[in-house]
Amino acid sequence: MVETLPSSSPSSIWRFSHRRWIPGLFSSYKPLFAFLWIVFFTSLFIWQRNFVDALSIFRRPMLVRPLPKLRPVAFNLTDFGAVGDGVTVNTLAFEKAVFAISKLGKRGGGQLNVPAGRWLTAPFNLTSYMTLFLAEGAVILGLDDEKFWPLMPPLPSYGYGREHPGPRYGSLIHGQNLKDVVITGNNGTIDGQGATWWKKYRQKLLNNTRGPLVQIMYSSDILISNITLRDSPFWTLHPYDCKNVTIRNMTILAPLFEAPNTDGIDPDSCEDMVIEDSYISVGDDAIAIKSGWDQYGVAYGRPSKNILIRNLVVRSMDPCLPNFDSAGISIGSEMSGGISNVTVENVLVWNSRRAVRIKTAAGRGAYIRDITYRNLTFENVRVGIIIKTDYNEHPDSGFDPKAFPVIRGISYTSIHGEGVRVPVRIHGSADIRVRNVTFRDMSVGTTYKKKHIFQCAYVNGRVIGSIFPKPCENLDLYDEQGELVKKSLYVVWGDAPDHSSLNVGILDYMFLFVRDSYRHIQEGHVSDPDIGTSVNPDECGDPHSFTVD
Ligand SMILES: *[C@@H]1O[C@H](CO)[C@@H](O)[C@H](O)[C@H]1NC(C)=O
Ligand SMILES: *[C@@H]1O[C@H](CO)[C@@H](O)[C@H](O)[C@H]1NC(C)=O
Ligand SMILES: *[C@@H]1O[C@H](CO)[C@@H](O)[C@H](O)[C@H]1NC(C)=O
Ligand SMILES: *[C@@H]1O[C@H](CO)[C@@H](O)[C@H](O)[C@H]1NC(C)=O
Ligand SMILES: *[C@@H]1O[C@H](CO)[C@@H](O)[C@H](O)[C@H]1NC(C)=O
Ligand SMILES: *[C@@H]1O[C@H](CO)[C@@H](O)[C@H](O)[C@H]1NC(C)=O
Ligand SMILES: *[C@@H]1O[C@H](CO)[C@@H](O)[C@H](O)[C@H]1NC(C)=O
Ligand SMILES: *[C@@H]1O[C@H](CO)[C@@H](O)[C@H](O)[C@H]1NC(C)=O
Ligand SMILES: *[C@@H]1O[C@H](CO)[C@@H](O)[C@H](O)[C@H]1NC(C)=O
Ligand SMILES: *[C@@H]1O[C@H](CO)[C@@H](O)[C@H](O)[C@H]1NC(C)=O
Repeated sequence: MVETLPSSSPSSIWRFSHRRWIPGLFSSYKPLFAFLWIVFFTSLFIWQRNFVDALSIFRRPMLVRPLPKLRPVAFNLTDFGAVGDGVTVNTLAFEKAVFAISKLGKRGGGQLNVPAGRWLTAPFNLTSYMTLFLAEGAVILGLDDEKFWPLMPPLPSYGYGREHPGPRYGSLIHGQNLKDVVITGNNGTIDGQGATWWKKYRQKLLNNTRGPLVQIMYSSDILISNITLRDSPFWTLHPYDCKNVTIRNMTILAPLFEAPNTDGIDPDSCEDMVIEDSYISVGDDAIAIKSGWDQYGVAYGRPSKNILIRNLVVRSMDPCLPNFDSAGISIGSEMSGGISNVTVENVLVWNSRRAVRIKTAAGRGAYIRDITYRNLTFENVRVGIIIKTDYNEHPDSGFDPKAFPVIRGISYTSIHGEGVRVPVRIHGSADIRVRNVTFRDMSVGTTYKKKHIFQCAYVNGRVIGSIFPKPCENLDLYDEQGELVKKSLYVVWGDAPDHSSLNVGILDYMFLFVRDSYRHIQEGHVSDPDIGTSVNPDECGDPHSFTVD
């Protein structure tokens, strides 16, 4: 009925009963009728719209959140023929979309919206001035057959694929030599479907190093926020030789068991970087700051510096499992370009093997300096603070065994926690001493026998105020006002090897370690890569009693 009204004649019923006088009326009141019609249609239109709006209140839970327009031009992945059924391979659609955005250039660039759905794809490359926006319910799924993953040359500062010599697989979402790239969304997901890769890796079926989930190289002005990354084949998010990188409000997940090397974020030869407000729970280090490996990293010479990590809750590999070489926040072990000016604050590490760790080895060269830890909480971790200088894993035999890294200026302030077996384990060596370490305001509840819980070797530095547990003898004691109270008996800092700085407690600890390692080798258990602990499965209870994310 509504549709017939706009014709030049009113309804037939009306016309029937008033046949005689209507024509005259009509002609003289034409402008009035026209006006009334307009009013009628306008109100009908408004009413209809309000009605639809009113209805939508009842449908609201079904509606996906609107997508913000963050660039002048926005595309929908479906514009390029993608099908989000979890089966169709959409690599070409992603490539076409990226190509279209690459044509927009620096005048604002373009946004690619990935709607809700499961978008299976092989690896693809990003472009500059691009925003990849993952709507609520959007999942980019990585094809888990390595035949679809291109091989790329080793990273120059590693000289090696990390797991295998020669080339390595690229990342699912890759970018290099870019500027202004944003990956964000309403908590959409990038899912690497890593399970197949982890299994093949364990069965030694892969001839090349696994690829990361997201890797951005030689780029600047990168923002990654508001999304979930999960089940990466290898390291999850790997910014390499980048500048000005922000990672914010992210969820990064991988199983805590049997997901080897699924580090959360690996800032590698990067500067001016912030990682904040995120939850990370993965099968290896939640964060590992790196800068290249031995002679290759020294030659490449690009440090990681000016990095701020704050407001995180992290969990790395469960304390008692076979692949146990993990920590909440790590620095190293690949650090041959140098690492400096790193701040780690307001971080909770829970149910992890180790909380915060610095690891290096002879052969690495370079330095780790000006590292500040502030307001850390450890809940149920085996070792809280670790510095380890014999992480002897090398790309090949071409490293310089005399390239000793310099470690200095490491401070720990407001460190709290409970359920920690060994709160502090700092093992320098005659060649790699740990200099100028500061502890201030620390109270960590322990779960271990009272001895050997604050371990030091070849360390100097100071404690300001009182801390718990009682610090090792290597450190000078100052009061809260900064007045020296007691000079350490152990500190003799010459160039000659200085065995007097090896704290006495450590010697019998080392003895226990050697004995335990021997027992475990005999029993066929693997020994812990950290000096001083060998894994005793009896201590761990049933691993399956731990919850898995
Ligand atoms: C993208 O296109 C699909 C299919 O045409 C549509 O359902 C979806 O609402 C679109 N999303 C956006 C953000 O335009
Ligand atoms: C991405 O770009 C790099 C560098 O040009 C190239 O080596 C790689 O194969 C590209 N990856 C894909 C999936 O096209
Ligand atoms: C974090 O991201 C989620 C979506 O993943 C969003 O709903 C939330 O508002 C974001 N929080 C902040 C503080 O940006
Ligand atoms: C985002 O999704 C992940 C995984 O589904 C979930 O754990 C997390 O809580 C979500 N974040 C927000 C802010 O909704
Ligand atoms: C690995 O190399 C072996 C021997 O060269 C070959 O038989 C096998 O197919 C390769 N595997 C993969 C996954 O490329
Ligand atoms: C860093 O990158 C962001 C975009 O992620 C940009 O807004 C900001 O201007 C950049 N900062 C500098 C100092 O270049
Ligand atoms: C994350 O999402 C929130 C809520 O939608 C938004 O306000 C914020 O700008 C987003 N953050 C970034 C860094 O994209
Ligand atoms: C250290 O890094 C912070 C960012 O975390 C930066 O603001 C500061 O300027 C850097 N300090 C130096 C001396 O470069
Ligand atoms: C310390 O960090 C926790 C999170 O682990 C945070 O809730 C708390 O506000 C921080 N305290 C200060 C003084 O910043
Ligand atoms: C030792 O480290 C502290 C803080 O980490 C720093 O303020 C101080 O300048 C350093 N001292 C020397 C002699 O390097």
